[in-house]
Amino acid sequence: MRIPLPAASATNVRRLALANLTANIVLVITGGVVRLTGSGLGCAQWPTCNDGNIVPHAAAPVHTYIEFLNRTLFFVLALIALTAWLVIRRLEPRRKDMSRLAFLIGLGIPAQAVIGGITVLTGLNPYTVMAHLMATMVIIYWCGVLYNRARNLDRVVPEYASKPMHWLARILLGSTYLTLAAGTVVTGSGPHSGDPEAGRTGFDPAFVSQLHADAVFLLIGISITVLVISYIVRADRLRRAAWAMVGVELAQGVVGYVQYFTNLPEALVAIHLLLAAVLMACVTYVAEEIRYVRLGGARQAERSEMAQPAESL
Ligand code: HEM
Repeated sequence: MRIPLPAASATNVRRLALANLTANIVLVITGGVVRLTGSGLGCAQWPTCNDGNIVPHAAAPVHTYIEFLNRTLFFVLALIALTAWLVIRRLEPRRKDMSRLAFLIGLGIPAQAVIGGITVLTGLNPYTVMAHLMATMVIIYWCGVLYNRARNLDRVVPEYASKPMHWLARILLGSTYLTLAAGTVVTGSGPHSGDPEAGRTGFDPAFVSQLHADAVFLLIGISITVLVISYIVRADRLRRAAWAMVGVELAQGVVGYVQYFTNLPEALVAIHLLLAAVLMACVTYVAEEIRYVRLGGARQAERSEMAQPAESL
């Protein structure tokens, strides 16, 4: 039996890549809702929900339904990821890089479900909760790269045009992960554990919030460096991407401070989570655009291979 699949057209590939990215950002929000409503152990078992049943019974409390709905999203995400992979595999000319990314996203979804299961079985241990969010951030990174390439199918994807820019992209990504990870430590030390019985890290929330804010300042400094470089080398696409990134960072900084000084209202924490996921996507956009910028010595081997001229100083 043949599975009916969308045609491997540029439009379908772009839409599927966007669906992958959007669905994983939505997952961050629904996961946040689970935590912020204290529904983390609404389904106390895994992979079943409660009493050995996969589906909650009609009289189950609302927390159970919230957690159950979050689990159900797995099937939506898996279906999108599988369809995207099957369609991208049939792209002509072949795009091995994109097939690989779509495959990784497809593998990431069940892996994430397993981490979610471990989170439940450990009674919402804060370190597994952190790993759960960070794993989604890695998947969002892959989704962001895939979407960027799907939007620009006719554009050759080169290696980074120069070593300094490759390092800049690495440092930008590293500081983004550092900021996100520090944020998860703040959450693991704060009041929104997902269940009244869940353990906490034991760190002083004010101290880890300060470390988190320090990481944010580092990230903003690096991001502004990228923005300045985009003006110096007149790289229009990089400039647009960098502005989007810096804009989200500044908005996120404001939300972060306001929530800190207002005792972490749930709605603001949810917005903070959404912006964190959107920022991850923006950073991948920037890191992809940095590939095309040459600042400093070009890599010898790539000089002649660049099918598209790098924007250079
Ligand atoms: C680029 C800027 C920022 C990013 C990307 C970011 C990211 C994050 C992330 C990923 C979390 C963890 C959310 C979770 O585990 O559910 C978090 C939590 C938190 N962030 Fe930020 N953050 C930023 C700026 C700030 C700033 C400037 C502050 C001010 C102190 C701040 C305060 C907090 C607090 C208090 C939490 C814990 C919320 C809770 O208990 O649920 N953030 N942040």
